[in-house]
Parts: sequence; structure tokens; C-alpha cells
Amino acid sequence: MSDSSPGGFAATIPLAPAGMSVTELCFGTSKLLRLHSSRARQRLLDAAYDCGIRHFDTARSYGLGEAEHELGLFLRRHPDATVATKLGIRITASGRWLRPLQGLARRCVDIAPGIRRVLRRTGTPLVAPRDFDVVSARTSLEASRNALGVDRIGIVFLHEPDGACVIPPGLVELFALAREKGWIGGWGLSGNLADLLDVRRAHPDLAPVLQYASDAVTRSRLPQVPAVPHLTFGPFSHSLDAIASWLQQRSPLDAWRRDVDAATDRSTIAGLLLADAVTPPHRAPVVFSTTSVAHLTAATAAAGDPATRARVDRLRDWIGCQTAGGRTGEVGRT
Ligand SMILES: NC(=O)c1ccc[n+]([C@@H]2O[C@H](COP(=O)([O-])OP(=O)(O)OC[C@H]3O[C@@H](n4cnc5c(N)ncnc54)[C@H](OP(=O)(O)O)[C@@H]3O)[C@@H](O)[C@H]2O)c1
Repeated sequence: MSDSSPGGFAATIPLAPAGMSVTELCFGTSKLLRLHSSRARQRLLDAAYDCGIRHFDTARSYGLGEAEHELGLFLRRHPDATVATKLGIRITASGRWLRPLQGLARRCVDIAPGIRRVLRRTGTPLVAPRDFDVVSARTSLEASRNALGVDRIGIVFLHEPDGACVIPPGLVELFALAREKGWIGGWGLSGNLADLLDVRRAHPDLAPVLQYASDAVTRSRLPQVPAVPHLTFGPFSHSLDAIASWLQQRSPLDAWRRDVDAATDRSTIAGLLLADAVTPPHRAPVVFSTTSVAHLTAATAAAGDPATRARVDRLRDWIGCQTAGGRTGEVGRT
């Protein structure tokens, strides 16, 4: 691991199988198209860069195929940033039709969330079932390089494969050839860890790098992590809601205020969760996302603050008490 950045994060963490290093904090673009203007999206990506983030995660399917293009505009200004993308989830004809209208569609859903339920009931799917055949993979890789406007993609992941997926022969050879030509640095699997391990058992050559969901609340339920270079993603999505819901109850709330933090707002919790994600022994590059510049700067600043880092053990103990059946005894005071 290299020297720390001024924020206290490891400046870079090597991912040897991809011949690259990534910053400890990485920004995910799955929700980027929730911002309705390209200007707002570029502002958010620039803010991530200003926070010291140099690795960006995307996928062919994000934003109905629009996220890579948007990230490409950013990469033109910041060619030192590294990027990972994913293949295997194709946008359907309906999804392609909706792509230019998604800003408007998302705005309508934001205003009236009930529309989402109606669309789910009546609508055709916007993404197709996973498909990892070699010709589609090659086409997807080429489309990603074009959309991102880069010669070389750092890592390409199979997007959410599981044990039931058909993995054809020839995929590793395609990736090896792409690496030889300088189109990619390396490859791996991204998704739910248990599923990735199923795929890895059958196809170890496809899994030199793993990227899997992990957060402070559910981490203890993950299968044993093999000694493979990895990134994690999703430090907030489950934990923020779980913690906020525990804090609705009197006894966990009292224990939180006494042992973890005087504040109970989501921004404080997010800062603690990001600090947890980069604090040993779980330390690995972590991919997170937000649509808010304020959330981004607050969470990264809090996570880099030694005072927040010092509370991570207490957060872990407090979560341990909640997951062990609601006990809220005194936790890890220092
Ligand atoms: N299968 C896969 O390979 C896979 C699957 C999922 C995700 N990923 C990658 O991982 C990235 C992150 O995943 P994710 O977006 O699902 O999970 P996440 O980063 O854990 O959660 C994002 C959510 O947290 C909220 N949030 C962030 N900072 C906050 C703050 N300071 N205060 C309050 N709320 C805050 C965001 O809301 P606001 O926008 O309101 O801040 C957003 O709804 C994705 O973008 C993608 O790149 C990969």
C-alpha cells in the first residue's frame, strides 16, 4: 500500500492482476443519470476528483448505456483517472428507446413515486437477462471503449454472474487478447460475493480480481473472502437504512448517543460507514456513490477525519449488539 493522501486515505492500492493501482476511495456511477443535466453530473464527478478520488466504476448498462458516455466526458479532462466497467447486462430495445427520455422519466418518478410501481407492472424490461457469450462480450468491450473515449480500460468485470450463468469457453482468451492489445489492464467478477465464489470455483481464470457488495451491517454474514485482490462496493445502501431504523428505538438510540456519536443524522452515519469501510482489518478500495456534492464532500471529509476513524470500533461494537439480537449494552468505550 502506498503513502497516505492528505485526507488520511491510502493514495493507491495495487491491483496486481490488472497491472494498476486504484485510490482507496472509488466513485460509482450507477446513479449518475439520476442527475438531470450533464452539467450537474460533471460537477459531481469533478467534486469526487477534488476529494482525491481517482478510480471510477461504471457499467455498460448504467444509465441505460449513458453513464459511460458521461464518464468519458469527465475522463477527457482528467486522463489520470482510472476506470473499471462491466459487461453482460444488455439494454433492451425498450431501454434504448427510453434512454434519451430517462432524465424526464426519472423526474416524473421522483415527483410521483407511484409511477415506478405502475411501470414495473405494465412495462417491458429495460435490461436483458445476463449474457456472457464471447461475441457479445467483444462487442460490449468495444462499445465501452468508444463511449468512455479511452484506449485502455483498467478493469473489465463480468456484471453480476452467478453459478447458473452460462460461461462459454473463450472468454478468458478474449480478455487475454484484449490485454495483449492494450485495450484492458485486467478482468474480474463483480456482484454478490457468494455468487462470485460459485463462478470462481468453476472458472478460476475469470476471477483474478473480485469486486463485491460489503457494508458494516451485513459484512459478518459474507462467506470467507479468499486471498484475491478485491474491491468492495455499497458501504451505505443497506447500512444507512438499517442503522436509521435501529435508531428509531429508544435503547439502541441511547447506546448510540452514549458510545458512538452525539449526532444521529444520515450524513454523520454515512461518514462513519465510509470510515469503517477503509479501516483495517477490512481495508480494501471501496466504491461508493451519491448524487449529492454535499453528501460526497461531507462523507469523504468525515471518513478522513481521525476523530471519525477513532469511533469506528465503537460503531462496529454497536452494530454487533444490534445484529446479535437487539442487545444494547455498553460498547467499546475508549
Ligand atoms: N453488481 C455490481 O457490480 C454492482 C452493484 C451495485 C453497485 N455497484 C457499484 O458500486 C457503486 C455504489 O453502489 P450503490 O450506489 O448501490 O451503494 P452506496 O454507495 O452504498 O449507496 C449510495 C446511496 O447512499 C446515499 N448516500 C451516499 N452518501 C450519503 C450521505 N453522505 N448522506 C446520506 N446519504 C448518502 C446515496 O443517496 P444520495 O444520492 O441522496 O446521496 C445513495 O442513495 C455503484 O455506483 C456501482 O458503481 C456495483
